[in-house]
Amino acid sequence: EATLEWSAQAPPSKPNPFHLDLSPKDCPVSSYNEWDPLKEVIVGRVEGACVPEFTIEVKANSYEKNWPFFKEYGGKPFPKEFMKKGKEEIEEFCRVLTAEGVTVRRPEILDFSEVYKTPDFSSRGLYAAMPRDYLLVVGNQLIEAPMAWRSRYMEHRAYRPLIKEYFLKGAKWCAGPKPLLSNELYDYDYPIQNVAQRHELAFEGKFVTTEFEPTFDAADFIRCGRDIFAQRSQVTNYFGIEWMRRQLGSDYNLHILTFKDPNPMHIDATFNTIAPGIVLANPDRPCGQIELFKKAGWKVVHPPKPVISDSHPLWLSSKWLSMNVLMLSPTRVVVEKDEIPIQKMFESLGIECIKVNIRHANSFGGGFHCWTTDVRREGTLQSYL
Ligand code: NVA
Repeated sequence: EATLEWSAQAPPSKPNPFHLDLSPKDCPVSSYNEWDPLKEVIVGRVEGACVPEFTIEVKANSYEKNWPFFKEYGGKPFPKEFMKKGKEEIEEFCRVLTAEGVTVRRPEILDFSEVYKTPDFSSRGLYAAMPRDYLLVVGNQLIEAPMAWRSRYMEHRAYRPLIKEYFLKGAKWCAGPKPLLSNELYDYDYPIQNVAQRHELAFEGKFVTTEFEPTFDAADFIRCGRDIFAQRSQVTNYFGIEWMRRQLGSDYNLHILTFKDPNPMHIDATFNTIAPGIVLANPDRPCGQIELFKKAGWKVVHPPKPVISDSHPLWLSSKWLSMNVLMLSPTRVVVEKDEIPIQKMFESLGIECIKVNIRHANSFGGGFHCWTTDVRREGTLQSYL
């Protein structure tokens, strides 16, 4: 008691050096949607990337034709030519963004082939190539994702210097509950061979991950002002979506969307709101709730089929990376140089295309949206629906 009394009367010691009284408009982190004019962005890295080992969650998220690749390369760097050309392409992408007036930030270079071990599992890493998967920015808040892949458990190490810097400059910072990623999170009986059955299971809301604990990848969320859209995927579970709903609070409406997709993982090659009133919707993966947008007077645009050749390796994604674009503003988009049909579609909508080639970088599993996370866009929190 004596001590308590003393501390109550004690004069303040030195002020907290971390204290900052900033109005949200001065915060370097501020982004509410996928289209407002882009000011600052994190672009991922090829350096240090390691092919994931062939675990059940990797098997459930990849196509059968790529399984021999994971068996041969799992735990090793991606093939040399792709490491080299992918790096060059991403550096060129960064130069283009800088020339467009966007500040480009990069994660740390780490060696993802190092083994780590917890009481529940041991794994090697993957990469810091896709910041969109790991970091979600909602307003002034940075949210780190509790990702379901064991190979991504240590990915935060590549982003922490940047995240700490943004926090010191006034951003809010939180991370989803650190998952165990123990065996209970995975359904080891999940049928992986039969696509028809996977369609049925996805429709019923059953995936390779269970509801053992909350997990999500940030790339399963699309931001549209006060409305945020999420999908239950092979890596984002309902538990994780509910965590996000409560974390965001009453300023936001979190909607769960469903798609006809036997292999959902990351919503941004399936569905994206690219401007107020325009949604880009994958024609192969119809959305069960599209009426919501139509009723609100939105234009639902179905992009043309991708043109990438069958022989070009895409180890971790479908060809629909063609629609995985980065909006620099509602009227400017970064799009793949070879994808002429989708460029024509954007032009017909009055959207100017900035053409960049990242074909080798695509092989790592992402397009321009995946390879980036927007840190700051102009604009404020608004309702669009
Ligand atoms: N997994 C999805 C999204 C990739 C960004 C696909 O392969 O289409």
